[in-house]
Amino acid sequence: MTPQTPPVCNYEGSDYQTSFWEEGGRDYEDQTEAIALRRLLPPRGNLLLEVGAGAGRNTPRYKGYQRIVLLDYSLTQLQQAQTRLGRGDRYIYAAADAYKLPFVNNLFDGATMIRTLHHMADAPAALREIRRVMQPQGTFILEFANKLNLKAIARYLLGRQNWSPFTPEPVEFVELNFDFHPKTIRAWLKEAGFQVERQLTVSHFRIGLLKKLVPLKILVAMDSMAQFTGGWWQLTPSVFTRNQAVESVTEGNAVVDGFFRCPACGSANLREEQDALTCSSCSSVWPVRDGIYDFRG
Ligand SMILES: C[S@@+](CC[C@H](N)C(=O)[O-])C[C@H]1O[C@@H](n2cnc3c(N)ncnc32)[C@H](O)[C@@H]1O
Ligand SMILES: [Zn+2]
Repeated sequence: MTPQTPPVCNYEGSDYQTSFWEEGGRDYEDQTEAIALRRLLPPRGNLLLEVGAGAGRNTPRYKGYQRIVLLDYSLTQLQQAQTRLGRGDRYIYAAADAYKLPFVNNLFDGATMIRTLHHMADAPAALREIRRVMQPQGTFILEFANKLNLKAIARYLLGRQNWSPFTPEPVEFVELNFDFHPKTIRAWLKEAGFQVERQLTVSHFRIGLLKKLVPLKILVAMDSMAQFTGGWWQLTPSVFTRNQAVESVTEGNAVVDGFFRCPACGSANLREEQDALTCSSCSSVWPVRDGIYDFRG
């Protein structure tokens, strides 16, 4: 049986996509993320897993991949994604917990996790789980929220913030919202079986006044150039990393045929029935509603 996993930050019923992105004045963040993604994504791929896909804001950017699995714990986020992207064969929607991915080992040649590690109380466990379902040599793009950013450093030095941005442990500034130290993330990625290939720093100019005064195009162009400094230092609130799954034969990483696996017992023996997948090993029933697999139990 799967061990107890940490709590999930609940986005069920949230209007995150509208309030944060579409009406929240976040064009600068969205466009600079798109640039980083373009730089890091392989030009072609077969099957990509998007962990914490939300309403599918980034999904249209994975142009080179033949099929994409959008995974999110929130059913309503996935419903919004489905409205945006449609129900075609290219997209598979799965409501599931990132700590218990409902897939067999070594399945994906690509994965992304953007603005989602941010909610993981046990980030190393989530990274190990992503590595488990990835093929060796697969590409994993991870975005993380950086505690060692200039604003946090200034606030700390001025005595306006009680946590240190320099120490390696994550900071939980709001319940289930964490910022991480870049060094710690690199260490966790390595432990999980990834090799960090490239780092881009994103959102150098995430300051209200600058966003108001400087035209969007110019701010985005400046950030685009500054992203390359991410190879040397990371002092922005958001950091994108490209990682390669290394060829390590870890226990439990043996190749298994199939696609889905039961998140309750780990068996790949799932029978497809009308509107559900049923586990032949533990009898769990995983419903499929309106084209969305539900593995939350
Ligand atoms: C800040 S949103 C980001 C959405 C999308 N990646 C984007 O950048 O627009 C975080 C997403 O992570 C999902 N999430 C949080 N914890 C999760 C977990 N344990 N398993 C799967 N998804 C989770 C939430 O439901 C939410 O949709
Ligand atoms: Zn089972």
